[in-house]
Amino acid sequence: MRKFILISLVSLTLISMFYSCQTAETVQKDAYYVNGRDLYIKHCQNCHGAKGEGLGALTPPLTDSVFMKANKEKLACIIKNGLSAPVTVHGQVYEGKMPEFNLANIDLAQVIVYITNAFGHQQGMYTNQQVENDLKNCK
Ligand code: HEC
Repeated sequence: MRKFILISLVSLTLISMFYSCQTAETVQKDAYYVNGRDLYIKHCQNCHGAKGEGLGALTPPLTDSVFMKANKEKLACIIKNGLSAPVTVHGQVYEGKMPEFNLANIDLAQVIVYITNAFGHQQGMYTNQQVENDLKNCK
């Protein structure tokens, strides 16, 4: 009986540790998401639309989850340096030019958390540290 209580206590502690970690990450992700949405409205929505739907043949949508997953490590570079190489999104080729945005790493992290968790995506947290690493590999 005592052993049973001990085991229960240990597993309860482990379970609550697990959930509090998870909650801390979720809380941080939600904060990034909310700030990222403000940044998106300010800097991106004009071209990419309130629902990430894009703008006709001019601006690609941000709703292609295959593209967004495959290019996650490139998003910081795309936003910071702009983009002029042709991209294929939802099977359609876009050849416009996206301007560069001189945003701080924290802003890049937040806007990336927003665009990778809104518009039907669910990619979770993306940190300042990841922005810093990804920016080292810009071409
Ligand atoms: C002036 C219009 C304009 C603004 C403002 C703009 N973009 Fe873009 N964006 C484009 C165009 C045009 C392309 C395609 C460029 C190409 O074909 O090389 C693009 C491409 C992209 C891509 C890669 C392709 C895709 O659709 O997934 C991402 C990601 C992206 N933009 C995110 C952003 C984010 C985030 C912001 C705000 C910080 C932003 N853009 C602001 C016009 C814009």
